[in-house]
Amino acid sequence: MTPAANDIEFRSVTKRYGAVTAVSDINLAVPKGAFVALLGPSGCGKTTCLRMIGGFEHPSEGEVFVGGAEMNGVPAYRRPVNMVFQQYALFPHFDVENNVAYGLRQLRPRLAKAEITRRVGEALEMVRLDGYAKRRIHEMSGGQQQRVALARALVNKPSVLLLDEPLAALDKKLRTAMQFELQTLQRELGITFVLVTHDQEEALSMSDLVCVMNAGSIRQLASPTEIYDRPADLFVADFVGKTNRLAATVDPANGSVTLANGRTLAVARARAMGAGEVTVALRPEVIRLARTSNANGALLEGTVTHRIFLGSSAEYSISVPGLGDLLVTTERHGTADSDLVEPGETVAMNFDPGEAHIFPA
Ligand SMILES: Nc1ncnc2c1ncn2[C@@H]1O[C@H](COP(=O)(O)OP(=O)(O)O)[C@@H](O)[C@H]1O
Ligand SMILES: [Mg+2]
Repeated sequence: MTPAANDIEFRSVTKRYGAVTAVSDINLAVPKGAFVALLGPSGCGKTTCLRMIGGFEHPSEGEVFVGGAEMNGVPAYRRPVNMVFQQYALFPHFDVENNVAYGLRQLRPRLAKAEITRRVGEALEMVRLDGYAKRRIHEMSGGQQQRVALARALVNKPSVLLLDEPLAALDKKLRTAMQFELQTLQRELGITFVLVTHDQEEALSMSDLVCVMNAGSIRQLASPTEIYDRPADLFVADFVGKTNRLAATVDPANGSVTLANGRTLAVARARAMGAGEVTVALRPEVIRLARTSNANGALLEGTVTHRIFLGSSAEYSISVPGLGDLLVTTERHGTADSDLVEPGETVAMNFDPGEAHIFPA
């Protein structure tokens, strides 16, 4: 793709802080108007990438493009970009209006007072805080402060909005509500959002594209469903959602894998592998559980060791001879106790072998 088709592009970008390589030879292209999430464990280089887009850090090697233009040497305030910081960095003793207007007042040539008032009003409306202009920051809840930080970034009409763990300080209920709102806001504004998070639920629920990172590198860039259903490697399979890892050997000629307990499964994608040791990755929700007495044959059998009741679902740890402990989740469809299996019971487990992913061991 040409840089013009993308709002953000990284070309072979490396960032070093002294001896630490925070970002290592990253290539990334984000289309205009996309909502992309940079997802990965703490320290993997997400914030560093965001700060290089914003112009608060500069690549040691490679180039960053924004809106088709090369940004090396372009200072932060000249980029068509605004950032919402992890700690909102609001002025606690100013009121909302003065916090939001702050950046506009620094512009030269000066904006007319009426223009500033109009744009602040518009930004507060976008984040549904109209009516709060005179409220002081320390009198507002965490969720409201989050909105002020958003309004302060949006008032500059950026073409790219950068958000660093914007919901981390909020409680679970509010976080879910803000996930909906951020998604709606992004659709309404049509500008590119780049969101940094270590929370997979946040990344999957809001974005069009998820960029999974580890140790300064990109492991996979794809839609949320693609990331979850077709993880590129074991790291992605483990980091996004839960995964059972089963040791196995693959027989490509027969299109089968043999698990450590001797059970052989026909798995079409085994044909594409080289013969040898592999890890089979199986999501906990693709395994169907039945009491052994009700089962009509089973791929695997085991004993329930733990159950975690989660209301609408349950998580089981099941000990399978020769394989170890498997995690299985089941949805509940009613309140019948018989839906739930008890610790100590033996169970039959079945799954579609096509749901198993195979990775080199
Ligand atoms: N200003 C800095 N000086 C030195 N090391 C840094 C600096 N900023 C980040 N790092 C290091 O770079 C790596 C990536 O950090 P960061 O991008 O903040 O990760 P993330 O946002 O994914 O948690 C970490 O090892 C971190 O300690
Ligand atoms: Mg960070």
